[in-house]
Amino acid sequence: DAIDRLASAIRRAESTVALTGAGLSTASGIPDFRGEEGIWNAQFDPADFRIERFLSDPAGFWTDRLALHEAMFGTEIEPNVAHEALATMESRGRLDAVITQNTDGLHAAAGSREVFELHGNAHRVVCMDCGHRGDAEPVRERVRGGERPPRCDCGGLLKPDVVLFGELLPEAIMAEAQRRARESDVFLAVGSSLTVEPAGSLPKIAARDGFLAVCNFDPTPHDDRAAVVLHEDVTEVLPALAARLA
Ligand code: OAD
Repeated sequence: DAIDRLASAIRRAESTVALTGAGLSTASGIPDFRGEEGIWNAQFDPADFRIERFLSDPAGFWTDRLALHEAMFGTEIEPNVAHEALATMESRGRLDAVITQNTDGLHAAAGSREVFELHGNAHRVVCMDCGHRGDAEPVRERVRGGERPPRCDCGGLLKPDVVLFGELLPEAIMAEAQRRARESDVFLAVGSSLTVEPAGSLPKIAARDGFLAVCNFDPTPHDDRAAVVLHEDVTEVLPALAARLA
């Protein structure tokens, strides 16, 4: 079947890389963005989370950001079997890297070592003036207590250390992700609608002369160029794949 074909391609491959999205973490209780019960379909408007909005109305931004944080990370969050399967594949030498659009930190928590976070990490904040990075939770606690917007010791505005709409991706990380995609023999695009640029274009770069596999409930713009397409649950497909590579 399709998982067998994918497993054989990985056995033959010199380099296998995965690109993950919000679908990896829905089984951990974090809603995705554009799926059936996605964040952008429910109570939130992506326009409120643009960099322009942060800069013009940082206090209002932080109020909305707290609500978004509660909706996404309100319950206790742990990695699920899909994150674990990718970590297992890496530990067995079957996966070189995980490139992720997720900001939840769950790949590292599951034991993945080579992780490229294209959209930053929601557990951190960054100062817009001095660039200092720190833990987000104490800052969220200050915001809950009424400090809006929260500021750095230097006086600069603190921003969640995630890529907001309208912001550029961290250049070095994106360049490395593009290189990994280009050089991979097998590229697994899993749990992502693949609709947000520039991450969404990595499968295209990879498919030019590599084996592209897509696993996502909803169809993606890259299904046509993929050698394997599975509109199935990542928490079933990835553990099954890892088991066949054991
Ligand atoms: P999306 O919400 O766009 O896509 C997630 C996809 O996962 C959807 O197409 C779902 O059908 C699918 N899905 C959900 N659970 C699944 C499961 N258990 N098995 C298989 N498929 C499942 O999320 P991303 O593609 O990650 O950007 O979105 C990309 C970026 O858009 C995010 O990083 C975020 C967002 O706005 C920033 O924060 C910058």
